Amino acid sequence: MFQHAIVRTPCKNVLNGITSAPELGKPDYEKALLQHAAYINALKQCGVDVTVLPADEAYPDSCFVEDVAVVTKRCAIITNPGAASRNGETAGIIETIRTFYSDIEYIRAPGTLEGGDVMMVGDCFYVGRSARTNAEGIRQFGEILAKYGFSCVEVPLEKVLHLKTGVNYIENNNMLVAGEFVDKECFAAFNRIIIPECEAYAANCIWMNGTVVVPAGYPSVLEAVQKAGYSTLIVDTSEFRKIDGGLSCLSLRF
Ligand code: GLY
Repeated sequence: MFQHAIVRTPCKNVLNGITSAPELGKPDYEKALLQHAAYINALKQCGVDVTVLPADEAYPDSCFVEDVAVVTKRCAIITNPGAASRNGETAGIIETIRTFYSDIEYIRAPGTLEGGDVMMVGDCFYVGRSARTNAEGIRQFGEILAKYGFSCVEVPLEKVLHLKTGVNYIENNNMLVAGEFVDKECFAAFNRIIIPECEAYAANCIWMNGTVVVPAGYPSVLEAVQKAGYSTLIVDTSEFRKIDGGLSCLSLRF
């Protein structure tokens, strides 16, 4: 069960966040703030306390705190983001992480790793080898995890930004899978809920203490998650989608 979450208020510069989908337009800042507030509210409804960090105008993507740390039940790992414009974001999370963790580890250059590429399944961490997370980052990550009694499985990515862009574990052996992850051998033993291509964005749901938070506007994913026996909460993330962000990127949960 999760007790805590950390989020960061979107900055005005969120309009200039990295995007692979410029055709969706720029985020509407006021709307992004409202959606972020609703997101915090949903996390609170799931029983966690939420630490809200202030907006950081130096980093357009800084509301996506998931990428700058991996928080486990035994240690926290400060990452080394592979996107140049995001690399400095880690400095702004360390002090907050220190208030929750005494065991803090670091991914160091030339290793790169972003938390969006890390999916926790019990004591095993799947990690995407992506444009943001390289082989050296995964090597360091595996070494750190082993020190704390965790294991690590590398998943090569072909198309999407981060591992959790297309696959998310929602506990009880259930996994939401979309696109290139549907047929991956390493996920064959899970009950895979296959997401249709037209709703692929909603593969990025988050499990929060028995409830699954689902992005607004994806009815077949919502129905599939409810059919799997979960209570659900819906949060609109349309403004974050415009800069490749989803539900999981917006918080650290532990
Ligand atoms: N815009 C989110 C990211 O590219 O990391």
